[in-house]
Amino acid sequence: MTDQRLIPEQLGWPDLPAAQQPSWPDLAARDSAVARLRGMPPLVFAGECDLLRGQLAEAARGRAFVLQGGDCAETFDGVGADAIRAKLKTVLQMAIVLTYGASMPVVKVGRIAGQFAKPRSATTERIGDIDLPSFYGHLVNDDAPTAEAREHDPLRMVRAYDQSARTLNLLRAFSKGGFADITRVHEWNQEFVATSAEGRRYEQVASEIERALRFMTACGIDLAREAQLHQVDVWTSHEGLVLDYEEGLTRRDSLTGDWYDCSAHMLWIGERTRQPQGAHAAFFAGVHNPLGVKLGPSASPQELVELCALLDPHRTPGRLTLIARMGAARVREALPPLLQAVRDAGHPVVWSCDPMHANGIRTASGLKTRRFDAIMDELEGFVATCRSEDTWPGGVHLEFTGEDVTECLGGAEAVLEDQLETRYMTLCDPRLNARQSLDLAFRLAELLRGDARHR
Ligand code: PEP
Ligand code: CO
Repeated sequence: MTDQRLIPEQLGWPDLPAAQQPSWPDLAARDSAVARLRGMPPLVFAGECDLLRGQLAEAARGRAFVLQGGDCAETFDGVGADAIRAKLKTVLQMAIVLTYGASMPVVKVGRIAGQFAKPRSATTERIGDIDLPSFYGHLVNDDAPTAEAREHDPLRMVRAYDQSARTLNLLRAFSKGGFADITRVHEWNQEFVATSAEGRRYEQVASEIERALRFMTACGIDLAREAQLHQVDVWTSHEGLVLDYEEGLTRRDSLTGDWYDCSAHMLWIGERTRQPQGAHAAFFAGVHNPLGVKLGPSASPQELVELCALLDPHRTPGRLTLIARMGAARVREALPPLLQAVRDAGHPVVWSCDPMHANGIRTASGLKTRRFDAIMDELEGFVATCRSEDTWPGGVHLEFTGEDVTECLGGAEAVLEDQLETRYMTLCDPRLNARQSLDLAFRLAELLRGDARHR
C-alpha cells in the first residue's frame, strides 16, 4: 500500500490488524477497483452527516428516539422499486406509531444503500457434504453454493457502489417527493398488513392523525407550509466492514477540511471488528460521520471506555451510538456495568438496543430463525435496565423487510415453525416481516411511554 492511499488522520490503520477482510486473489485488481471508487461522486455529503449527528444528539439528550433497521444483507439481484417502497412504508409506519405513541421525534436510519458486507464466524461453511468458502455479502462474493461463486471478487465493490447509488436515488425520491407526506398515512399500510390486528390498530392511529390535521387546519394553521409534514429524512447506514471499500469512498470536505466516509451517513463497527487496537476503530476514528458500535455480552467496561476515547475524544453528542446486542437472557446483567462506565467517562452517547443478533436459534430442520417473544424480551430488559440506570433508552436496531416473509417466529399473527419455509428469502439472518415490525413498534411505543412517564 503506498502512502498516496492513506488519509492523513488515519495514518496507521493499514498497519493494524483488520479482522474479517476479504482475501482478494489479485491485489492489482483490488487496487484498480479502489481507484475506480475514488473517482466516483460521493453517495452522501458531509453536511447531511452533520444534520444526522444533530438529530442523534437529540436522542443522546433523551429528546428523540432512533429507529435503525433494514435487511441483514442487501442483495445485488433484481432489487426493484417495489421492494424499496415496501421497506420505506414499514419504516414510515413504525416511525409514526413510535412518534404518536411515545410523543417523541423519531430519527429514521435505514440499513440500506450499502449493507452488502457480512462478517462471518467461520471462513468456510458446510453445504450438503462439501466445505465452501463462507458467503461474505454481495460486496465480496456470491451466495450461490459453488466454489466459483464464493471467490472473492474486488470488482464487486464497484457494483456495490452502483447498487447503492440506485437505491439511494429512489430513497431520496420517495422520502422527499410526496410519498412520505403525512396526508398519505393510510397508504403506508400494505394490504397484507392492513388485514391483521396490528394493521387495524394502525388504521385507527392513522385516522386520529388525520383528524388532528383537520383540527389544525380548522384552527387556521396552513399545513401546506409545514415542510416536516410533507417529507422525511431517511438516513443511510451499514456496517463499515470492508476497509478497501470504505477507504475508496472517503473524501475531504472542501468547507471544513474534515474527512467523511461518503458511502453512508452513518457507519457502524460490528461485534467482530470492534477491537480498540484494530484497524476498524483506527479508520473510523479518522472520519467525522456519526458512528455506531455493536456490543455483545463479552464487551468489557474497560475496553468500551477505550473505544469511546478513541472514537469520541471530544465528547460530541450524536457522534457515537452504542448498540447493545446482549440476548434476552443476558441483557439485564451485562448492560449495567457498560452504562455506568460510559456515563462515568462522560461520553454523551445514544444507547440503542439490537434485540436480533444475540437471539438467533435454529429449527430442527436447520433454518436460522428468531422468536418474536425473545426479541421483545430483550427490548423490555433493555428499557428497564436503562431506566434503573437513569439512562435514556435512545434507539432500536432491527432487521426487517417490508415484504411478507416468514423468517422470524411468532408475533400477533404468529408465524409458526412449519410455515417458516414458505417465504424464507433472506440472504443472511432472519428478518421481521412488515406485520411483525408494526406489532413491535406498538409494543415498543408502550414501553417508551412508560419510560417517559417514569422520567
Ligand atoms: C449485523 O448487524 O448484521 C451483524 C452482523 O451484527 P453484529 O456485529 O452485532 O453481530
Ligand atoms: Co444480521
